[in-house]
Amino acid sequence: MARILVTGGTGALGSALVNQLRTTHHHIRLFSRKSSPTTIDAEWAQGDVLSGDGLAEALNGISIVANCVGDARNAYETDVLGVKRLAEASVKAGVQHFFHISIAGIDLIDSEFYKYKVSAEAAVINSGVAYSILRVTQFHSLLDFALSLMKTTPDGYVLPVAHDAQFQLIDTRDVAAYMLPLLTQAPTGRLPDLGGPEILRVEEITRTYLAARGIMNSVLVDGPQVFFGPVAVNGFQQGLNLVPNNRYGKITWADFVHEKYGKH
Ligand SMILES: NC(=O)c1ccc[n+]([C@@H]2O[C@H](COP(=O)([O-])OP(=O)(O)OC[C@H]3O[C@@H](n4cnc5c(N)ncnc54)[C@H](OP(=O)(O)O)[C@@H]3O)[C@@H](O)[C@H]2O)c1
Repeated sequence: MARILVTGGTGALGSALVNQLRTTHHHIRLFSRKSSPTTIDAEWAQGDVLSGDGLAEALNGISIVANCVGDARNAYETDVLGVKRLAEASVKAGVQHFFHISIAGIDLIDSEFYKYKVSAEAAVINSGVAYSILRVTQFHSLLDFALSLMKTTPDGYVLPVAHDAQFQLIDTRDVAAYMLPLLTQAPTGRLPDLGGPEILRVEEITRTYLAARGIMNSVLVDGPQVFFGPVAVNGFQQGLNLVPNNRYGKITWADFVHEKYGKH
C-alpha cells in the first residue's frame, strides 16, 4: 500500500484521480486550499502552494505525490513558484515519486502560459525530487468551459477559438486511468506524451456541443481569439498541441457532451 497525496485533488483531473484511487488499496490524501467537506471519503490536508502553508503536514508520511495543481490565471505564482515550493518540500519530506502533469506542445507553441508550464517542469526537475512528467492534450472540461462562454449574435454563434484549430481532447477519467499504474512504478522522468482518442477541429467540436444542447444547424463565426490568445491558436491550427502517435481513452467528446447535457 502506497501513501499518495493528490495535490489539486479537487480539480478536474485531480478529482477523477481521487475517485479512481479510492477503488484501490492505497492510502489517499487530498491537498486543497479549501476546508474539508463533511462528505468526503478521503484524508484531507488544507494548505496553499503559494504561501507554503500546510505543505509539510500534507507531505508527512507520503511516498507519492500526484501533482494536479494549476491555475492558468495566476500561472507564474501557482504553476511555477507554487510547484517549485511543492517539489522542494517533497524532497525534504522524503517523497519517492513526484508525478507531475503538464501539457502537450508547451515547448512548440508560443504562449506566455505555456512558457510558465515549461518552467514548472524545470522546477520539478531541478528540485532533485525523483519525478515522472506526463504531458497531456487538452481535457474535455476545458473546451466545455470555453464553449460555455460563446456569445450569440445576429451573425451566428461566435466561436471562442478559431474554427480550424485542432484538438485531441481527452477525458480526465481516461487520464486518471492511464496514470493509476504509473504512479506506483519507479519514477521515469519524461514519459511519452498522451493524447485523446480523436483529433477534431473546433467547428466539429462546437456542432457536437450545440447538438447535445438541442441546437442544430447553427451558423458559426470566428471571433477574436481571447480565450487562448492568437499566437497559441495559431499553434493549434498547425496541430502543435496534438499527439497523433499516442491516442488513448474510450470517452469521446460526443460521449462527454451527451453525458453532460443529455441530448443527442
Ligand atoms: N485543463 C486541461 O485541458 C489540461 C490539459 C493538460 C494538462 N493540464 C494540467 O493538468 C493540471 C490539472 O488541470 P485541471 O484542469 O484539472 O485544473 P483545475 O480543474 O483548474 O484544478 C486546479 C487545482 O489546483 C488547485 N490549486 C490551485 N491553486 C492552488 C494553490 N495556490 N494551492 C493549492 N492548490 C491549488 C485547486 O485546488 P483548490 O481550489 O481546491 O485549492 C484545484 O484542485 C494543471 O497543471 C494543468 O495545467 C490541464
